[in-house]
Amino acid sequence: MTERIPDKLKSFFEIESVPLTLISRDRRDMPVVIANRAFCDLTGYEPEEVIGRNCRFLQGDFDNSAERARIRECIENERDDYFILANRKKNGDRFLNFLYLAPIFVPDSPERFVLGTQFDVTNELGDGIERHFRRVGDVFAGGAQSPYSEQVVIESKKLAAMSVRNVLQYILETEAGRQAKSLVAG
Ligand SMILES: Cc1cc2nc3c(=O)[nH]c(=O)nc-3n(C[C@H](O)[C@H](O)[C@H](O)COP(=O)(O)O)c2cc1C
Repeated sequence: MTERIPDKLKSFFEIESVPLTLISRDRRDMPVVIANRAFCDLTGYEPEEVIGRNCRFLQGDFDNSAERARIRECIENERDDYFILANRKKNGDRFLNFLYLAPIFVPDSPERFVLGTQFDVTNELGDGIERHFRRVGDVFAGGAQSPYSEQVVIESKKLAAMSVRNVLQYILETEAGRQAKSLVAG
């Protein structure tokens, strides 16, 4: 799966403490190509249980249909955007997954990739977790105004995810990738 992925990208995934996944738009059903340790720690799955699968398996019995429609549209139009999804960890625990998606351009690769950054916002979205789970795919699809505190959570996660994405894109396009590699080599 990772044969066509540059070493600098793999190294970045290893050192980044934020949960990350990379999917290929050009392979059947858009499978995960790489998932980092932080993503595995978050979800409880090992890399070999995730790689080659579409990330939707994390949704389990949840519907998420409104957010899923937005995700499909976002990927199709090669945009970046964020989503809040009801997901389950491997042990069955549910969590609210703040997912930020953005295209990543890998120089010299004809393949198109999308970077996913995931944050568990279950606790940060405050009390009333039940209400949040019911609202997923409704309010978060843009239908209603979120209270200010939710907006703060959303803005901070969005900025963090955008920074990670921009640093990765910079590394892929410059010599800075060499430094990331030497960090991993120790
Ligand atoms: C890079 C990337 C990471 C994703 N990560 C997750 C995730 O952590 N949890 C989730 O429920 N869906 C995730 N998705 C969304 C699903 O893979 C899928 O795109 C979504 O469910 C809409 O497609 P579908 O209606 O065919 O399922 C991710 C998508 C991409 C492109």
